[in-house]
Amino acid sequence: MAQERAKLDLNGTVVELPILDGVEGEKAIDISELRAKTSYITLDHGYANTGSCLSGVTFIDGEKGILRYRGIPIEELAVHSTFVETSYLLIHGKLPTQAERDEFSRALTKHAPLHEDVKHIFDGIPDETHPMAILSAMVSILSGFHPASLDPRQDEAQINENASQLLSKVRTIAAYIYKKSIGEPFIPPDDHLSYCANFLHMMFSKPKKDYPVDEDVVRALNLLLILHADHEQNCSTATVRLVGSSRTNLFASVAAGICALWGPWHGGANQEVMEMLERIHKSGKGVQEHIRVATDPKSPVRLSGFGHRVYKTYDPRAKVIKEACHRLVEKFGVHDPLLEIALKLEAAALKHEFFISRKLYPNVDFYSGIIYKLIGIPTNMFTVMFAIGRLPGWIAHWKEMRETKPPRIGRPRQIYIGNRKADYVDMKDRK
Ligand code: ACO
Repeated sequence: MAQERAKLDLNGTVVELPILDGVEGEKAIDISELRAKTSYITLDHGYANTGSCLSGVTFIDGEKGILRYRGIPIEELAVHSTFVETSYLLIHGKLPTQAERDEFSRALTKHAPLHEDVKHIFDGIPDETHPMAILSAMVSILSGFHPASLDPRQDEAQINENASQLLSKVRTIAAYIYKKSIGEPFIPPDDHLSYCANFLHMMFSKPKKDYPVDEDVVRALNLLLILHADHEQNCSTATVRLVGSSRTNLFASVAAGICALWGPWHGGANQEVMEMLERIHKSGKGVQEHIRVATDPKSPVRLSGFGHRVYKTYDPRAKVIKEACHRLVEKFGVHDPLLEIALKLEAAALKHEFFISRKLYPNVDFYSGIIYKLIGIPTNMFTVMFAIGRLPGWIAHWKEMRETKPPRIGRPRQIYIGNRKADYVDMKDRK
């Protein structure tokens, strides 16, 4: 079958551009040769229509609410998998055999402790520092403790070793960020615990008083991390790929991704949602007042945890998290007024013309914070939890980017709108 082509008419000169098909029927006009052939570039604010790569990691259909990792629907992974197994799936492209899974778990266990010198770095960090700032700095510094990662010609075995170090140590760093913030001593990892149970142990055990790890809480944490594990070319993942495209090492590329995730329009939204729910609760004004402000065209306020660049229907992750949220609230037998406010906000927004016409629905961050709160994780650590979850996705995309042939540095163009050529003016003549 002849390949489809698009025709672009540039003032009478017709340029033919190839059309590429994805395996799920998505189509792209390939403009790779456009500038060389015509001297034109394309402009696409926020890259809303621009594909930056061919990828085999994750598929999203934003109209139908579909999300699959390596072809497997997240709803199936949420029921059957663990975060460690899902990480393997994303990073290595397939579900592990028992032997592969055991080997991967052994590597994660081996890499869980932090070097004594890393622990000392925490001493010099001001108490007010946001956990995401500490996380990104610590992840970048890890490259100094694993110098083989700096070699841009490293082989796959070395990259996989760095990936395991990163996955395991980020969990320990996250727990130590929390311990430092509350002035408690670090609790070393326990080799006998699973990935999520070990994290809860390092977060909540105290010297001579082990935290009683609850299997339902471990399950809920696995679920949240699985649902955050990848989301194709989102802001932080695109950042990791772009930074890595200059042959920057894995640790530094991921540190950049952590900074991109921090913002309130991306991963920082989970912290914003919780703060919004608390503000509504304390003010006693009810949800309608917040909906009024969030829909006022003159107000910069948005309804945090709502809306998505890709989903124009209910985010499939939010659906699973909302159900888990109800299960956990029931198990703990707690009455959480914030969950009630969230349910009322969602109901009010889904009926409101502003949200209906713009196809704005709850996203992954709308209900995740309520589960984190039930587990005992403080609000300013929510985005760190997101970062732990997103790590396998960042690693998988960094690896895929490195394997792309021919390798090219990521480097967008621009349309210049500044001053035309001007002369240098001597200081005494400046106005
Ligand atoms: N509350 C109120 N209005 C909103 C919201 C919201 N949450 N989201 C979008 N809108 C409005 C915009 O003001 C705009 O209105 P207009 O057409 O009158 O100008 C319209 O909907 C389209 O919004 P855009 O900003 O163009 O959409 P975009 O795809 O660029 O942004 C984003 C997506 C950043 C997620 C946005 O929906 C948002 O800010 N949501 C709140 C923050 C949030 O929850 N972020 C987490 C996203 S999920 C994740 O990253 C893990």
